[in-house]
Formats: sequence, structure tokens, C-alpha cells
Amino acid sequence: MTAERVAVGPAPGPLKGKLRVPGDKSIAHRAIILNACGRGRAVVSALPQGLDVKSTVDVMSALGTLIEPLSPGTVSVTGRAMEFAQPAGALFCGNSGTTMRLVAGLLAGQPFQVQLDGDESLSRRPMRRVADPLARMGAHIETTDGRAPLRVGGKSLHGYEHHLEVASAQVKSALLLAGLGADGPTSVTEPVLSRDHTERMLAGMGVAVEREGLTVSLQGPAVPSCVDVELCGDPSSAAFIAVAAAMTPGSDVIVERICTNPTRTGFVDILRRMGADIDLLDQDDSGVEPLASLRVRGSDLSAVDIGAAEVPASIDELPVIAVAAALASGKTRISGAGELRVKESDRVATIAAMLSSLGAKVVEKPDGMEIEGSPELAGGVCIDAHGDHRVAMAAAVAALSCAEPVLIDGAGSVAVSYPGFFEQLEELSR
Ligand code: S3P
Repeated sequence: MTAERVAVGPAPGPLKGKLRVPGDKSIAHRAIILNACGRGRAVVSALPQGLDVKSTVDVMSALGTLIEPLSPGTVSVTGRAMEFAQPAGALFCGNSGTTMRLVAGLLAGQPFQVQLDGDESLSRRPMRRVADPLARMGAHIETTDGRAPLRVGGKSLHGYEHHLEVASAQVKSALLLAGLGADGPTSVTEPVLSRDHTERMLAGMGVAVEREGLTVSLQGPAVPSCVDVELCGDPSSAAFIAVAAAMTPGSDVIVERICTNPTRTGFVDILRRMGADIDLLDQDDSGVEPLASLRVRGSDLSAVDIGAAEVPASIDELPVIAVAAALASGKTRISGAGELRVKESDRVATIAAMLSSLGAKVVEKPDGMEIEGSPELAGGVCIDAHGDHRVAMAAAVAALSCAEPVLIDGAGSVAVSYPGFFEQLEELSR
């Protein structure tokens, strides 16, 4: 387990080595939830050990799904064919927005009511974005002033043509899950394509999912057929290693077998535009999700402009892209990224504050930030991660380019998505 307070010093030299990062968290949630909805039994392997996925496993088990550990990181899931058992009490989703929103969609059409709770951070996050469209399908769903706890379920649903104002894979997935249990067609149109793992997996499970431009649709009621899923590495975790290597002169690092679904690899395009030396090796497009190994070598980085169209495919990586920008030559502008304010923390504020206290020049904007790069940051301070795993990891990557060591308070939060992060980072600089 990672200590609550961790010190990260300047990189003693280039980062070198080959590593694997934890399995993809987004796909893992879906592999558990969609197989639990399915008919049959499936084996899910290379499951990440982070707390978020554990929340999903616990919630789906409480709904009567048989999830049996077979070996470390491998479980079998016996599907309930869309008929879940009423849990004994409230379901606790921990820190995981994906768990809460997807499960809200899934339970909306079940014949019983359930309460969904979250930790302090999750209880601050907006839930009307899923409650309002679910209500349009006939769902009974109550929020607490627009946030968790939620109470959901007990009504039958009808299909609906949804048009989302914000590109959100969590909302889209919640509505598609509700659509599985609804009568008639359900479609979701987004302003920009968000990660499409749900629709890919459902199609692989025999559900007739159709995509036309930014609209995805399916016909309810439908029961997916369980399929085995072997998870590839999480690009959102790999991004922290990639930026660390790109920023540290002489580095040469390979992150093996990560998911290269284009709705997730916006950070690769952005880093390349900044001048990073990145190759995708051993590309394998044969499965439901494409994968490849990422090779990153150290190079000089320069500023970029990042706008709204690029945000959904890089949303979780923008915190560490901001670190790269703080060490790049020139002024980087990130705009159209207001969604960062409603993540595990207000990431516009927490990342801007973190970089400023390390000595970077950052101006916070309502929907992003401007960052004036410099060759080195000062460091020598204590950073508050605000309980946000990606803020803690971004601070650690920034610390590698600081003159003085940095203390990170709340470092234990990395357990949410990337247990072992600090150890792997240190290993690469040995
Ligand atoms: C996720 C979608 C994104 C992302 C989150 C995981 C998912 O959130 O930020 O970490 O697994 O669907 P939004 O859908 O709210 O943008």
C-alpha cells in the first residue's frame, strides 16, 4: 500500500525500461457490468487491482451476480440475464463515478428501488446529467440536490432519443444500459465522440448496436451473451509514464500492450504535436479493442493549443499533459475542458494550484488553463493531492523535473487506479 505522504525527488538520470501498467479501468468496469447483465458465464482476466474496479465488483455482487476469483487478476462472472436481486441495503460506489453512473442506468429498469452512495468526492459530483435523461425514459430516480446519494428503480422504461450537451461516456453508457432493459429503440447522440468501450463490448456480446456518426443506438429489450475479456493496459495510466519519459532527457521506455482505441489516445497525438518521440509497436487490431506497445524517448517539448474537440479523447490525461506543458518551451493553452472541474477533484483548480506551487506560471481559466513553460521547476514544497489519484501522479511526474524534492500529501489515492505507480516510476529511474 502507498503511504499517505510520499517524497519524489528530481530524476537522477534518464528513465529506462519496459513495463506493464494495470489493466484498463474503463473497460474493466464494463467487462464486469455487461457480463453481469448477460446470459452465460465469462472469464475476465488481467483485471486491474485498483479500488474503483473493486467498487464495481462489490456492487454487482451485492446485486446477486456470482463473481468468483479464479487466480490473482482473473474472475469468472455468471450473468443474471438482466434480472438482478434486490440488495440488502444501499450500494457503495466508493470514489468511482463510472460505477455509480453505469449502475444507475442499469438499475433504472429493475423492479425494485436501490440507494447508491459514494465517498465524499463522488458525493460532490453532478448526477443530474444521468438522472434527467433516465427520467425521460420513464425512470424513477431521485438525487440529493443533483448529487449522490441517488435512489433509483422500480419502473419500466421505454426507449428514447437522447441528445447530450456534454460528451460523456459515463452518461452514454448509463443510457445504453437503461436501453437494454427498455421497450423500443434508445439512441444517444453526443457533441463529440467519447470513449466507445460500451458499444464495442455490447456489439461483441451479440447486441445489435448501430453507429451512425455521433449517434449510437440499440433496440430494447435485449440480453447480451457473456464473453471472455482479457484486459489490455490502461492508456490513462501509461500517460503518466509517457510524459515522465518524454520530459526526461535520454529516456527510453516501453509500456507494453496498452489499449489504443482512438477515443483514448488523444494524449499520444497531443504529445507528438509537442515534439515527443513516441512509437506504437506491435499493433494488434484483431480484437474488440486495438492494442500496441508505446515506446517513448526523451525529447525537447514545445507548447500546443488544445481545444474542445480534443478534450474527450484526452480528458483523464490532461492533468499530466499540463505537467508536460509546464516544462515545454512556449505558452500552452487548454480550452473547452470545463469537464475537468467535475472530476474526482476540480482538476482545473487542483492542477493549476499544484503546478503554481512547484514554480510554474499558470493562469486558470473557466474552461481550462494557460501554462507558460520553463526548463525547470523549483519544487521543494508539499503538494496536496486533494484525494485525487491523477493529481497525485501528475505531481510525482512534475517532481522529476524539479530542482528540489516534492512531498505529495494524499499519495495513497493512487490506489484508485494505479497501485504500484510510485514503485514503477522509481524502478524506471534506477
Ligand atoms: C469514463 C469516462 C470519463 C472519464 C472517466 C471514466 C468511463 O468520464 O473521465 O475517468 O469509464 O466511462 P465522463 O464520461 O464523465 O467524461
